[in-house]
Amino acid sequence: MIAMRVGHGLDAHRLAPGRPLLLGGYLVPDAPRGADAHSDGDALLHALADALLSSAGLGDIGDAFPPSDERWRDLDSRVIVEYVLRLVVERMAGARVVNVAAAVVLDAPKLGPHRAAIQHALAGQLGLSGERVGITFKTSEGLAPDHVQASVTVLLSVG
Ligand code: C5P
Ligand code: MG
Repeated sequence: MIAMRVGHGLDAHRLAPGRPLLLGGYLVPDAPRGADAHSDGDALLHALADALLSSAGLGDIGDAFPPSDERWRDLDSRVIVEYVLRLVVERMAGARVVNVAAAVVLDAPKLGPHRAAIQHALAGQLGLSGERVGITFKTSEGLAPDHVQASVTVLLSVG
């Protein structure tokens, strides 16, 4: 019998000028501000990594990549996702991501024009076809103009 697992992760970063705006491993071109973070600040990949860990009851990325550790300064978040995927497969033999549902909250810039590129980048990270990665965008309606936030749900089949 195929068992299913669900995982959910959230992340937020403060926006600062002169920083890259990375989402799902994709660099949003010409963004005036990006995530002020110890790592590369890719909130979408951080939320994805937490979602994967949570599907297997494995805590969160702060355990493996504490922000206080200088080794992780400007870390490429794709490395975090690769590491976490390996942990999850080790814990749950035969685990495969079925699909991903993600939401990003950001007031500006508009991300709609970059949806396909972000979807493609995220799908590539997980070895999925693009239609298995859904990404929606929302503004905060001005309530959180200095933040980028991401929420990710993953579904995995095991065995
Ligand atoms: O948050 P709100 O409902 O006003 O978003 C309206 C539309 O704007 C959504 O359909 C969303 O795809 C788009 N959007 C976007 N880039 C953002 C925020 C929202 O393209 N940074
Ligand atoms: Mg983060």
